[in-house]
Amino acid sequence: VDDFAKDRRPLRIADIAAMAGVSTATVSRALTSPEKLRAGTLARVNEAVARTGYTPNLAARVLRARRTMVVLVVVPDIANPFFSDVLRGIDESLSGAGYGWLIGNLGNSREKAQEIVDIVQSGQVDGVLLLNGSIPEYDGRSLSSLGVPMVAVCEAIPGADFPQVEAQNLEAAREGAVHLLSLGHRRLAYLAGPSGNILEQQRRAGFCEALVAAGVALRSVRFYPGDFTFAAGRAAATGFLAATVRPTALFAANDEMAIGFLKTVRTAGLAVPGDISILGFDGIAFADFVEPTLTTLRQPRQALGQAGASLLVKAMTGVPVTAAEAHIRLPVPLLARASTGPASDGGQHRIR
Ligand code: RIB
Repeated sequence: VDDFAKDRRPLRIADIAAMAGVSTATVSRALTSPEKLRAGTLARVNEAVARTGYTPNLAARVLRARRTMVVLVVVPDIANPFFSDVLRGIDESLSGAGYGWLIGNLGNSREKAQEIVDIVQSGQVDGVLLLNGSIPEYDGRSLSSLGVPMVAVCEAIPGADFPQVEAQNLEAAREGAVHLLSLGHRRLAYLAGPSGNILEQQRRAGFCEALVAAGVALRSVRFYPGDFTFAAGRAAATGFLAATVRPTALFAANDEMAIGFLKTVRTAGLAVPGDISILGFDGIAFADFVEPTLTTLRQPRQALGQAGASLLVKAMTGVPVTAAEAHIRLPVPLLARASTGPASDGGQHRIR
């Protein structure tokens, strides 16, 4: 045992994998079914194990061998009404297969991340559905090194080596922008999701693509920062109301922000869509109950949840996932409702 013993941090399977230049799955195979590995690979893993004195966490492995029939569902924000139908789809698939589930409301909390890692590491769940766009980790311990089956739903995780189920965000955003352009809007605004969020990136890309294709200069677009909350919609509307020359149409990266914006501009006496057309994204139930009803892009929320949970059941029960299932992208139709209409300026003006 060399210098690694001096390192106070407990050794993890990922450390052995890095030293041997193999994946964590290969290390795990070397420890459980060495006969399945090539001699050279096995020798490299054994050498790393010998050098470090690594002993696999037997307790966790034994616990994992016992099935709990429980799945952990990680969401970024349980207060977001978007998730109710996704969870309904998840519940349908999981309960149909005899599984229960518990929810981890991640937010930006380090404590929550620690709780989530602890739950998985202590073998309390058979699988994890990640709806938050990243693999939770805490203090160097990542879910990806714990050997538990995972599936990403809604928010894709680029480069992840497990199945993903997402909506066609880019294509839908492009269609939403084309809808506004086809109504004659040329002074456009975009209300963004959280910076760095993959959904925000995909939707912004689709929106921008459509504008560029229509010859609308992106520098003419007013970009408002946001974070997928009603409050962000209200804040953007306050900036919009203060502008001397206002956009005639707003593309909001989700419905909550669109509704926050809509309520604020209407309270200030503006007409929707007469003074400003508003388009959202998600198709949450509330979008049909605001006045005027919100034009939006309807994500197949229940189907996203069902598909993700069914794939996880397969992974947890050892049923192979086909290449087509490994990355599912569901279409997002446009629901043209009352909050969008023809541009009040006939598309003639430009933002200063
Ligand atoms: O993160 C999931 C959902 O939250 C997204 O689709 C986005 O629209 C937001 O409402």
